[in-house]
Amino acid sequence: MSKPALDIRAKELREQLQQHNYLYYILDQPSIPDAEYDRLLRELETIEAELPHLKTLDSPTQRVGNAPLSAFSQVKHRVPMLSLGNSFAFEELEAFYKRIQDRLKDATEIEFVCEPKLDGLAVSLLYEKGVLVQAATRGDGTTGENITDNIRTIGAIPLTLKGEFPDVLEVRGEVYMPLKGFNQLNEMASKNDSKKFANPRNAAAGSLRQLDSRITASRPLAMYCYGIGVVEGGNVANSQWDMLQAFKAWGLRVNPEIKKVMGIQACWLYYEALGQKRNSLGYDIDGIVFKVNQVTLQEQLGYVSRAPRWAIAQKFPAQEELSTILNIDFQVGRTGALTPVARLEPTFVGGATVSNATLHNMDEIARKDVRIGDTVIIRRAGDVIPEVVSVVKDRRPKNAKKIILPKTCPICDSDVIHPEGEAVARCIGELYCPAQRKGILSHYASRKAMDIDGLGERLIEIMVDHELLKTAADIYHLSIEQVAGLDRMGEKSAENLINAIEKSKQTSLAKFIYALGIREVGESTANNLANHFGSLAAIEKADEQRLQQTPDVGHIVARNLVEFFHEQHNVEVINALQTAGVNWPDIDVTADTEKPLEGKIFVLTGTLETLARDKAKAQLIALGAKVSGSVSKKTDYVVAGAAAGSKLTKAEQLGVTVKDELWLIDLLNEYV
Ligand code: IVH
Repeated sequence: MSKPALDIRAKELREQLQQHNYLYYILDQPSIPDAEYDRLLRELETIEAELPHLKTLDSPTQRVGNAPLSAFSQVKHRVPMLSLGNSFAFEELEAFYKRIQDRLKDATEIEFVCEPKLDGLAVSLLYEKGVLVQAATRGDGTTGENITDNIRTIGAIPLTLKGEFPDVLEVRGEVYMPLKGFNQLNEMASKNDSKKFANPRNAAAGSLRQLDSRITASRPLAMYCYGIGVVEGGNVANSQWDMLQAFKAWGLRVNPEIKKVMGIQACWLYYEALGQKRNSLGYDIDGIVFKVNQVTLQEQLGYVSRAPRWAIAQKFPAQEELSTILNIDFQVGRTGALTPVARLEPTFVGGATVSNATLHNMDEIARKDVRIGDTVIIRRAGDVIPEVVSVVKDRRPKNAKKIILPKTCPICDSDVIHPEGEAVARCIGELYCPAQRKGILSHYASRKAMDIDGLGERLIEIMVDHELLKTAADIYHLSIEQVAGLDRMGEKSAENLINAIEKSKQTSLAKFIYALGIREVGESTANNLANHFGSLAAIEKADEQRLQQTPDVGHIVARNLVEFFHEQHNVEVINALQTAGVNWPDIDVTADTEKPLEGKIFVLTGTLETLARDKAKAQLIALGAKVSGSVSKKTDYVVAGAAAGSKLTKAEQLGVTVKDELWLIDLLNEYV
């Protein structure tokens, strides 16, 4: 870049960094992840190294943090609160070690204390004669905010020290929010419809910066101590390790993971081991701090600008990064739930390249206001599925597209429903949808449903994978050869299975309804429905109001039933099951009341256009009629569909009343 171009870029970076500083430190609402902030800062540092006149006192590279809020009084740190140099690779750590050995003119191994680098806020605690008299934030390292009242509310921080201690002792450490407390706090925020915190660090910062310390008291904060500032009237220790032991004796919290090691290889081993443990610690850490143990060596090494030469922060791969939403796909789960999945610009985060992240459901998309084309913060922590944390609104392109729930299932094209008040949208092609196949079929064959002996979950999975089963109706078309050809299935067990399938065809209405796997229609609801309606046809025809007359059927179950039978794909599977021979006796439900067709004999002939013959038959029977296979003088009505043949002729010969399908539909509508 030319010098004027660098000048312009530097100005741009300064403005951006200042804005991000403000969002981060003052509002506790960062809009980009730390890793991106670090990159911008590094870019500015590089430019300033080339053009030193840009390195003015007000440059964001010259101060960490931001001015304290005016409402807190200010505290000047008598011993500045420093920061740490960072290392991102083993080579950088080696270079750090070599610099130390060179300076000490000593090539022997050096002892280090390894400490987790907590992702919270640095805080200074001042104890006079063992009593906590003042607490302050780090601020810009020279001046911080007086947060004594707030700090006093944190149970993990002792108000008085135990044992023997210097007259004046300034202890430093990190205040943080454990993940459990953080999650509870955010869950509560969700329930109360108030704003959630982006991460535990911000939650801790926001909690400490409360002007009302009663609010701080309600927040789950904790602290680990790791250093000292002012010490008067006594000594602390001559090594970092012994100092940490002294802290413990005084009743101050020290991280239990700390370790004393020899040489840089051992430091690296510790870094790798803790990296493995990182996601099970219960609090966020973003790296490991290695500190030369002996104070005499620390003194020889001294400081460079604002950081000690005797310590370094070895950073873990960032768990949050920026990416772009390329598209949104909808995945259909085993229960039919549609989950929106963001397809991302492949991004290295948390130690792996991530190109998909879950968005959970449509409510989540609405809450986060995610659109296609958006720049988003994504998070990948350990083995947890990567997720979209938030949108960087000021990077939204003009043509960003809103995300719309598909009207039909991306897998089977059945309708998708999104009931009001429910977070999850689902595909209602329950019996038909390939995504739901394994779950639905296992349920269908299970003991309390169709009770097909030997057709368990594992076998169904194999059969679905081999494409032997698509819908439940396919079960009845399996051959012994097909089954015997499967893994671990012999001729004999195949034969047994086919026999069991055959036997299961004769069932009860209640079991069949239960077997359909309609949402929230369990065994007892299925029983009630069977007893109340008597036939499947009657249930299929009933509207929500009528369904709710069944004991234990409320509006949700009624709605699920109507939706289920409204989906043509489901009806087709039911018809196919009945055609394959699945049958049950209908239940005489009109026995106590009137049976309007009592004693009437019907014959159905020809092809019925709208009514399925079986269903029409079942409904007639339920109303008390008899449905016969042949026409005689006793026949009351012959219902003739298209291409009716010899039965129609015979009816005409005998003078039996002949009616068409429309008449039958009207008749049934009148009663059912
Ligand atoms: S020592 C002179 N030890 O990291 C050394 N810092 O990047 C000063 N931090 O402001 C810091 N855990 O907020 C030290 N075990 C640890 C730490 C730690 C977290 C933070 C602290 C500091 C920042 C420096």
